[in-house]
Amino acid sequence: MKFFIDTGNLAQIKEANELGILDGVTTNPSLMAKEGIKGQEAVFNHYKTICEMVDGDISAEVISTEFNGIIEEGKKLAAIHPNIVVKVPMIKDGVKAIKWFTDNGIRTNCTLVFSAGQAILAAKAGATYVSPFIGRIDDSTWDGVDLIAQISNIYSIQGFKTEILAASIRSALHIVKCAEAGADVCTCPLDSILGLLKHPLTDIGLAKFLEDAKKTA
Ligand code: E4P
Repeated sequence: MKFFIDTGNLAQIKEANELGILDGVTTNPSLMAKEGIKGQEAVFNHYKTICEMVDGDISAEVISTEFNGIIEEGKKLAAIHPNIVVKVPMIKDGVKAIKWFTDNGIRTNCTLVFSAGQAILAAKAGATYVSPFIGRIDDSTWDGVDLIAQISNIYSIQGFKTEILAASIRSALHIVKCAEAGADVCTCPLDSILGLLKHPLTDIGLAKFLEDAKKTA
């Protein structure tokens, strides 16, 4: 399973990248706004900076919602760097645009996916990635991980090549459950990635080893 970090924060991207396990970055307009980035030029420059920091796929989201606008915006985003993946919402014009991008060699991440039906459409249109939003599904009292398992099963039966990118991850447990359920990628906040490190027995065991090492010094 690939690990992406889900943030526009450069310090967090740097920290995750330095762990040596980072395969890419996802962003969205909310994450960019959180960093105080304003105006298309600043947004595009920010994507460029991220592409120069991380050697992996970098999702950059369109904000247009009609076909021609999505295509124009997506072409500009894709021109920023070869590693840019154009993130397109799961709407009617979005599906049409994903098909156009597929036919024209531009990779896509179909975002805001909440059902298996939407995931089938994204795969039919040739999306490189499909992003089911696990945490937001959990928030609405459905089980987000169940959706990952369902999509994984359908894609495997049907031979769809679209990669399942589990998004809206809220915890280290989500990452483990998504790995079990067949996600190809998890995009996670830094805290959830670092949460994977934690186990009290590791801390207790290390403290004991260090204590005993003093006896051998
Ligand atoms: C990433 O591609 C998604 O935009 C992101 O994971 C959404 O996460 P949220 O539900 O925490 O906003």
